[in-house]
Amino acid sequence: METSSACLVLEGVSRHFGGLKAVDNVNLTLQPGERHALIGPNGAGKTTLFNVISGELRADAGTITLNGADVTRLAAHQRAARGIARTFQITKLFPNLTVIENMLVACEALDRRRFTMHRPLSSCADLVERATNLLDEYRLSPFRRELARNLSYGDQRKLEVALSMAGRPRVLLLDEPMAGLSSGERDVMQALLRQLDPSIAVLLIEHDIDVAFGFAERITVLYQGRVLTEGPKEMVSANRSVQESYLGLLVE
Ligand SMILES: Nc1ncnc2c1ncn2[C@@H]1O[C@H](COP(=O)(O)OP(=O)(O)OP(=O)(O)O)[C@@H](O)[C@H]1O
Ligand SMILES: [Mg+2]
Repeated sequence: METSSACLVLEGVSRHFGGLKAVDNVNLTLQPGERHALIGPNGAGKTTLFNVISGELRADAGTITLNGADVTRLAAHQRAARGIARTFQITKLFPNLTVIENMLVACEALDRRRFTMHRPLSSCADLVERATNLLDEYRLSPFRRELARNLSYGDQRKLEVALSMAGRPRVLLLDEPMAGLSSGERDVMQALLRQLDPSIAVLLIEHDIDVAFGFAERITVLYQGRVLTEGPKEMVSANRSVQESYLGLLVE
C-alpha cells in the first residue's frame, strides 16, 4: 500500500483494556478522498480504533500519521485542529442548545483565532455565516432555532455529520451514522454520505453489509481487535474466511 500520499496511516496500532486486546496490531492506510468501510461483529474493536485515531484514547503501541505528521502523542483537540473529525456511535449533541448554537460551538471550537482573541460569539460574523451555510448545505436551516433534543433522531444524526464538517476535516470517521434510523431516514443518510466532499477521506463503521459495500471502495474487516482482511471490496467479498467468519453469519 502506497503510504507517501496517504492522509492517514496506522502502523501496528494496539490498545488493550487490562488483558483484553481491543485493538491488536492494526495497520490501515487512507488516501485523500478514499471511501473506506470498517466492518466486524460487535466487540471487534471498531469504536476503540476510532477512539485511538481521534485521540480520545491513547494507543499502547504503534504510530498514527496524519498528512505526513506523527500525531500518535497529540491530544484529541490537537488532532481535530490537524484535520480529523468524527461522529459518535451514541449521539453527542448539546441537547439543550439550539441547532444553530450547536453549529456555532462546533465552528468556534475549531477556529484557530480563538487562541489569540477574546470576543463575543455574536461579533463573529464569519463564524455565523459559516454555521448558517453548513446548516443550509445539510438542509437543517428550517430547524436552526429548535433545541437539538426536539429534532427527530434522523435529523439529530444528520446534524452530527454537519457538525463534523465545521473544522474542514481531511479525514472523517463516522461511527454507525445509520444506527437506529427508520428506513426513510436511512435513505436520507445514505444520500447525504454519497454527497460528502469527495476530497475528504471517509472511514465508515457500518453493520449493514449492503450499505458498507455500497458506500466504500475499500473494506477493512476487524475481528477480535485484528484486521482479518483489508482491500478492494470485490476482493474482500470473495475472501473465504470473511464469508465464513463474518459475512456468512449475517447473510445466512
Ligand atoms: N473503556 C473500555 N474499558 C474496557 N473495555 C472496553 C472499553 N471500551 C471498549 N471495551 C471493550 O473492548 C472491546 C471492543 O469494543 P468496541 O466498542 O471497540 O467494539 P465495536 O467493534 O465498536 O462493537 P459494536 O459493533 O458493538 O459497537 C469490547 O470487548 C468492549 O467491551
Ligand atoms: Mg462500536
